Amino acid sequence: MAILKAEGVEKVYSTQAEQVYALRKVNFEIKTGDFLMINGPSGSGKTTLLNLLSGIDQPTAGNIYLNQQPLRGLSDSERTVIRRDKIGLIFQSFELIPVLTVSENVEYPLLLQKMGHQQRQKRVKEVLEQVGLRELSKRLPSQLSGGQKQRVAIARALVTRPTIILADEPTGNLDSETGLKIIRLMLDLNRKYQVAVVIVTHDLTLNQYAQQIYQLRDGVLTQKGEIRDVEDRLA
Ligand SMILES: Nc1ncnc2c1ncn2[C@@H]1O[C@H](COP(=O)(O)OP(=O)(O)O)[C@@H](O)[C@H]1O
Ligand SMILES: [Mg+2]
Repeated sequence: MAILKAEGVEKVYSTQAEQVYALRKVNFEIKTGDFLMINGPSGSGKTTLLNLLSGIDQPTAGNIYLNQQPLRGLSDSERTVIRRDKIGLIFQSFELIPVLTVSENVEYPLLLQKMGHQQRQKRVKEVLEQVGLRELSKRLPSQLSGGQKQRVAIARALVTRPTIILADEPTGNLDSETGLKIIRLMLDLNRKYQVAVVIVTHDLTLNQYAQQIYQLRDGVLTQKGEIRDVEDRLA
C-alpha cells in the first residue's frame, strides 16, 4: 500500500515574464521499504517534486496523499507537523545550523517535537551511532568534511524515525567515492529500519543501488528500470 502518493500532480510557476510548467501530470507512489531513484538533469523538476511530496509547496493541480490522507485539505501548520513527524528531508547543501554542534543539529527536530531531554539524548546518541558519527558529536559543521556533513544531515532526517526519507541530490556536493558511501549507508538504513528512501539525482552511477528507477525530463516522470532484488544491488 502506498504511504506517499502523487496523483496527476502538476506545478506551474507563474512569474511576471512567463509560466513555467515544472511538473506535468506526475503519478508516483512510495511504499514501505522502497528505495527509489529519480534521475533528471538540472531544471527537470526534481526539487519541485520533492517540495510537493513533502508538503513544503502545493501543486497547481492534482493531489498528494500521505497515508491515504490528501495534503490539500490541510492548513500550513498541519502540513508542517506532518513533514516534521513523517518525512525526513535531506537537502543538497546539507542546511546544517553553523552555530550548533553535530549532536545539537541532530537534536533540533526533536526539540521542535517537544520531546523530553532524556529521550532526546538517547535518540541522538542512537542515530549518530547508526551513521558512524559518534566520535564527532561535539564538532561544529565547519569542522567537518562534506561526507561527514551529509552524514549529519542524514542523522537529522532519521532522528524523528520518519517512514520516508526524501533526498535532493544527496551526493551532489561530494566526491564520487564519498557519494557512493553515502548511498550505501542510506541503503543499509533502508534495509535495517524499513524506511522508504527516494533519491533525486542527476548522477546515473547511483542507479546501481536503486530498486526502481524513474526518469524526470521537462517535468514528465516515466518509469525507467525494473524492480530489482536488494541482494543484486549490494553484490
Ligand atoms: N520559484 C520558482 N519560480 C519560477 N520558476 C521556478 C521556481 N522554482 C523552480 N522553477 C523552474 O521550474 C523548473 C524545475 O526546477 P527544479 O524543480 O528546481 O528542477 P531541478 O531540481 O531538477 O533542477 C525549472 O525550469 C526552474 O527554473
Ligand atoms: Mg534541484
